[in-house]
Amino acid sequence: MINVAIDGPAGAGKSTIAKRVAKDLDYIYVDTGAMFRALGLFMTRKGIDLNDVAAIAANVDDAEIDIQYIEGVQCVILNGENVNDSIRTDEISDAASKVAVVPEVRKKMLILQRGIASRHDVIMDGRDIGSAVLPDADLKIYLTASVDVRAERRYKENISNGMNSDLDEIKREIRERDERDMNRKEAPLVKVDDAVEIDSSYMTIEEVVEKIEGMIRDIR
Ligand code: DC
Repeated sequence: MINVAIDGPAGAGKSTIAKRVAKDLDYIYVDTGAMFRALGLFMTRKGIDLNDVAAIAANVDDAEIDIQYIEGVQCVILNGENVNDSIRTDEISDAASKVAVVPEVRKKMLILQRGIASRHDVIMDGRDIGSAVLPDADLKIYLTASVDVRAERRYKENISNGMNSDLDEIKREIRERDERDMNRKEAPLVKVDDAVEIDSSYMTIEEVVEKIEGMIRDIR
């Protein structure tokens, strides 16, 4: 199996790029953030205080999370329900980042994610893929971009989806999430020594895709 890890901060373009590469090379794209989002949704729906680590840990076993691929699209199944359409809000982004600090949550995700990677050629994106989930990945990418560029991308996406959006508010949220994802005790976002760093701030999606596909061809 070929395992490719892509880590980086929110909004660097990981999922857009990983999806394209997976399609071109016929790999499975594993969006690990979606799994944390599903768990964030579960805890939010249950009314659990997202800053209460013990309460989250006590409820984690009640959330059955499964990943299915329907016509090549990853579907996150939470206790039997496909929650793909409910996990992309700002509220759930924040909830995912909060539940992700809890060790019991990370343990559950790690088992799920390693299981998928052991059965398929995967391109898996997240925060701790190269460092914790797949330390022996065949290729590790650290994809980043400046806060300003990442906020602007999110802003344009919101506007084109007909949503109200405030650029300064988005910047603040991105900084807050970076801070939490990079400074938590358990599996924080880091660039590991054997990862190749790509700064996508001034690159097009196509340029980044081509670069990564070239690197994958070199290892095969
Ligand atoms: O990639 P994303 O924005 O969908 O991820 C949502 C949150 O989930 C992110 O802020 C931190 C957490 N996460 C994580 O801790 N580890 C991962 N491998 C993926 C996501």
